[in-house]
Amino acid sequence: MTNDSTVTRPKVTVRTIRDMKAERVRIVSVTAYDYPSARLADEAGVDLILVGDSLGMVVLGYESTIPVTLSEMAHHLKAVVRAQPRALVVADLPFLSFQTSAEDAVRNSGRLMKRGAEAVKLEGGRRMLLQIEAILAADIPVLGHLGLTPQSVHQFGGYRVQGRGREAADALLEDALALERAGCFSIVLEGVPLELGREITEALKIPTIGIGAGVHCDGQVLVLHDLIGMSFSKPARFVRRYAEAGDIIRNAITAFREDVRAGRYPSIEESYAASPEKPAKKP
Ligand code: KIV
Repeated sequence: MTNDSTVTRPKVTVRTIRDMKAERVRIVSVTAYDYPSARLADEAGVDLILVGDSLGMVVLGYESTIPVTLSEMAHHLKAVVRAQPRALVVADLPFLSFQTSAEDAVRNSGRLMKRGAEAVKLEGGRRMLLQIEAILAADIPVLGHLGLTPQSVHQFGGYRVQGRGREAADALLEDALALERAGCFSIVLEGVPLELGREITEALKIPTIGIGAGVHCDGQVLVLHDLIGMSFSKPARFVRRYAEAGDIIRNAITAFREDVRAGRYPSIEESYAASPEKPAKKP
């Protein structure tokens, strides 16, 4: 299945994403961490490619997103940007690249922008307002991220659904409104009850992009490796696997191993002859 419209489709900007809410077009986003995944996501016609710090877990084999560094983010971002996506490219600010001060937040956002990001995403609500305002004051668009924010896994005591109960829900709603007032162009809502996903989505003028936040969000994002069946941990409840790419790749490599062991690879047709005019002969 290909999407021919992606060949000529207009470049997606933060404005496009903001306007999609009023136009009632659901936003589609996946993560990508390298050139081939960015090409495939873009050819599939997604609106937003997120170079997420989930790369630490799905690509680099870390236990959480905490160890991910800005250099690692920059390295993977550059590969994604080389695919020249029509989708908007958003890069994650990793743990401790922005929490320390507004100055660090601006400087590190700038590093990602200089490497081709078109916006940055950072986790946190009102407590990160100074950082968000400073980044926006440098004309760098910001995608907010609220709810089960993975960089806070130890503070949460595990990957637990957030915003259950009126008090916790109100706190997240206030965070979302504060991020909108500050000027975020959109907010990722992760791991919250679907009723709260709906409440926040209805309260905001900017779009929400959900991951484990129910169907009422203005868009959905999934980690690519979860979606294509190439992640190795137990999938979360909200993950829908659209392919079993892990099985396809393992089977292909197994077939290659068997062919090499049995002397079936390479064939004569896959070999070079001493003279280009004469085909190679079977030994
Ligand atoms: O890092 C990431 O992939 C994310 C998404 C899960 C939203 O932040």
